[in-house]
Amino acid sequence: MRKRTVILCLTAVAAVVALYRAPLGHAEAAAAPSGNAASMTPVQAADAAAKGTLKNPYKDTDTAVVAAGQQLYLNYGCNGCHGGTGGGGMCPPLTNDVWVYGGDDDTLFRLVAYGSQILQSKGYSRKQQENVVGPMPQMGMVVKTADDLWRILAFVRANYHGAPECKFGCPPEQ
Ligand code: HEC
Repeated sequence: MRKRTVILCLTAVAAVVALYRAPLGHAEAAAAPSGNAASMTPVQAADAAAKGTLKNPYKDTDTAVVAAGQQLYLNYGCNGCHGGTGGGGMCPPLTNDVWVYGGDDDTLFRLVAYGSQILQSKGYSRKQQENVVGPMPQMGMVVKTADDLWRILAFVRANYHGAPECKFGCPPEQ
């Protein structure tokens, strides 16, 4: 059962990568860095910020932002792998207290922007393991702006159901 889930997740990753491969070049070429973080692509915003400094400008208590974030999450197809409310589907849940690379804003933004393979090449390492293990595709080539990604992440935070102290990553054990 578990093995089957992993295979489904990997198939989904391959499909998404193939689906977005063609339009990617355009998206990349069209968006020049503007200095305005909100209108940068997620990859540009991640490249421009020092490790550990990216922070969500939105609060997950802002219901208008969370609703917009949910719509974007669906529009960009995150639900195809993570389920409609992020509770997991073929791929890992986003709502529990297991954070594969860390649960802080900076790490989550970079994971979605770069995908798990580029993220690891930049010195981030796997800390925890979900039931389903597979590569997260580079959704930063699909999500248009950093602002869109922050709103999506506000929606993900609003759906968090894990232990309260682990919402942004569990505190180190004493
Ligand atoms: C093709 C399937 C797929 C799609 C589409 C996808 N993801 Fe993922 N995502 C994954 C996989 C697989 C992982 C686990 C990565 C790993 O273990 O290295 C993951 C991990 C994550 C994590 C970290 C979860 C944790 O527990 O630490 C977040 C947050 C996330 N994805 C958000 C998103 C968002 C937001 C989108 C849409 C913009 C998205 N994902 C689209 C497959 C997908």
